[in-house]
Amino acid sequence: MRTIYVTRHEHFNAAHKLWNHDWSDEKNEEIFGKCSNKNWHGHNYDLYVTVKGTPDADTGYVMDLKVLSDIIKVKVLDKVDHKNLNLDVAFMQGIMASTENLCFAVWDELKSEVEKHNCTLHCVKIYETSNNFAEYYGE
Ligand code: NI
Repeated sequence: MRTIYVTRHEHFNAAHKLWNHDWSDEKNEEIFGKCSNKNWHGHNYDLYVTVKGTPDADTGYVMDLKVLSDIIKVKVLDKVDHKNLNLDVAFMQGIMASTENLCFAVWDELKSEVEKHNCTLHCVKIYETSNNFAEYYGE
């Protein structure tokens, strides 16, 4: 059996702030720069969700990407799009709203739903800007 990787790309907009309450204002501004702005700021995030598996004999699909899109919409996009990651998103409460931690949280939201469809979640990749992204492979 050959394994193939299939990716769905989604987009969302969200506000956040990177701020460590154990540090002074000066240290937060030094470490986090613009992302420490007290009155928040937004990013246009790009989310890439990759699943892996063996194509179904009847459909040729590992997973119908419309189904994957619907899962991502319900489990992630409806919760984060046009929201404040620090204040509005239950699965980010108490967590530094970095792209790294967002990848972990999105992975946790999606994993069990994806596995209901006979394939495996392989990677969650999130671009915070066109230059900066994080990816998580479940390690
Ligand atoms: Ni930022």
